[in-house]
Amino acid sequence: MIHSRIAGTGSHLPAKVLTNFDLEKLVDTTDEWIRTRTGIERRHIAAEGETTVDLAEVAARRALEAAGVAPGDVDFIAFGTTTPDLVFPNCGVLLQARLGCRGVPAFSVETACAGFMYALSIADKYVRCGEAKRALVIGAETLSRITDWNDRATAVLFADGAGAVVLEPSEQPGVLSTHLHADGAYKDLLYCAAGVSRGFGDKLAIVMSGNEVFKVAVTKLGSAVDETLSANGLDRSALDWLVPHQANIRIIQATARRLDMPMERVIVTVQEHGNTSAASVPLALDVAVRDGRIKRGDLLLLEAFGGGFTWGSALVRY
Ligand code: ACO
Repeated sequence: MIHSRIAGTGSHLPAKVLTNFDLEKLVDTTDEWIRTRTGIERRHIAAEGETTVDLAEVAARRALEAAGVAPGDVDFIAFGTTTPDLVFPNCGVLLQARLGCRGVPAFSVETACAGFMYALSIADKYVRCGEAKRALVIGAETLSRITDWNDRATAVLFADGAGAVVLEPSEQPGVLSTHLHADGAYKDLLYCAAGVSRGFGDKLAIVMSGNEVFKVAVTKLGSAVDETLSANGLDRSALDWLVPHQANIRIIQATARRLDMPMERVIVTVQEHGNTSAASVPLALDVAVRDGRIKRGDLLLLEAFGGGFTWGSALVRY
């Protein structure tokens, strides 16, 4: 039986840093409010002209280098993003053109903050069925482009970045299971109401009922981690690391409590990165792999929750 395993990780952040103190000058907020309500201290914002694919390319090349795979040898690209460079060609194809792996499937999935989890789940299945051998899975965003910088409720949360992993076939299980969910009945709690078919109007911005989103996120992520453990017949004590979506430290703490995990076993980057949507989980994963916390053989639980609502989780033996 073929499994897929993570052969390498990579990430990239734009150079420009926006601190909470910078935001105090833009909207009616304080560093103290942002830190205590969200855990965020600073975030990275793309420069003018710097696109989602620009960020993704650097993250992808780093992941490929870590995996020892030449860019031209990639045979599958799954790209999670809500902030594509263009309507089409999709970001997967734009990235493919830069990497030079012509002719292989390349596509993007737009499932908001769960974009990477969806892309990972799809790529895992292609590797397991033998149709892909060097799959590149990306989560990348320039959320700053759809942030209303006059709305203090959302401007303090969102940011830009990219993360990537390379999946390869393996005799030993790497990705043990993935679990995807969506519930469109919640579509009005978190959205960006502009698009090609509906029209762009004058407001291309994220709208969020923060408090309601918070409550549903805690409940759904709690069920997702239970589902992931039970699908694998594992007790929560078997986990080495939780690699959660980085939206809010209080949501992360609630999920860690559900797993009875001390915060020392949770990868937290929200203070540095803010909410980078689809990029958040692969970014956090890469940070912890590169700083030596996550080691080969460790058991990881990955999860993300976002607009739609969409959410997903994965159990991974790194
Ligand atoms: N600075 C100061 N005060 C603020 C700010 C701010 N930046 N933003 C809101 N407030 C005020 C509100 O106006 C409100 O004031 P009031 O009591 O006088 O009315 C008060 O703070 C409390 O507001 P709440 O919205 O109830 O604050 P809450 O504790 O819920 O925190 C937050 C807000 C941080 C947005 C939280 O609800 C949250 O993190 N929600 C989930 C976000 C999330 O997970 N999104 C999913 C992924 S995102 C994606 O898919 C793209």
